[in-house]
Amino acid sequence: MNESELARALAESRSCVVLTGAGISAESGIPTFRDAQWGLWAEFDPGKLATPEAFARDPELVSRWYDERRLAVAGARPNAGHFALARIERFLEERGRRFLLVTQNVDRLHQRAGSRSVVELHGSLLDWRCSQCGAEREESGPAFPCYPPRCACGGARRPGVVWFGEMLPQDSVARAEGAVNDCDLFFSIGTSAEVFPAAGLIHRAVDLGARTVEINPQPTPVSRRVDLSIHEAAATALRRLADELEPRPTKY
Ligand code: OAD
Repeated sequence: MNESELARALAESRSCVVLTGAGISAESGIPTFRDAQWGLWAEFDPGKLATPEAFARDPELVSRWYDERRLAVAGARPNAGHFALARIERFLEERGRRFLLVTQNVDRLHQRAGSRSVVELHGSLLDWRCSQCGAEREESGPAFPCYPPRCACGGARRPGVVWFGEMLPQDSVARAEGAVNDCDLFFSIGTSAEVFPAAGLIHRAVDLGARTVEINPQPTPVSRRVDLSIHEAAATALRRLADELEPRPTKY
């Protein structure tokens, strides 16, 4: 498959799965993790911030860091890549095709752009839950008054993201894997494809014979495995693809 055949493959797809990573939100101003210059893990040590042990050791530092990220995301806007995926989903759903967006991102920008069938593999920065009683609530307000924020039961509340060493939500994994087993077209967009089990979905799609496409300005470990690698920013490539699928009416 070459790029000019992609819009047709998408238009004819019976069941499409899209996996996204931090790169799709880069153009919304949200830092990725592994980019050498501006990736979060280039500046911060994940062992001190993104593990259950780190939270047990220093709940103030960890909760403050995640709350700063929550506020940064609340101030960001979905970009053309997020909106294009929502358009693609609508196009397919109106024609009775299946579509699932599986994201590793915790910023909820896909939902804000209008995507409806979304699986959050790594949880969300916006949902905070009590480490003692498990009570969970979405947070959309200003910074917490204290760190760590406290539950009514007195327990320390933590961000609802998946930390290193933790299990992914099993219902989300099952939904993602079920969709990949059944898909005929699979996209990997804006992910370094280095973190498993999420990256395993790409290999599963290739192994099961789906048509596979990667969109990433940089090569990744899966670039040679997929059928088509588009080395471009997600917003540019996805907007073009959505326009080819369903041209926007010209405004006079
Ligand atoms: P990474 O930071 O590992 O990779 C981001 C990818 O996005 C890189 O391959 C970039 O080349 C690419 N990229 C940068 N700008 C882009 C753009 N404008 N358009 C498209 N791609 C672009 O982020 P993830 O793959 O999402 O886990 O990382 C996976 C997981 O590792 C994250 O969910 C997080 C992290 O540790 C948890 O927090 C559990």
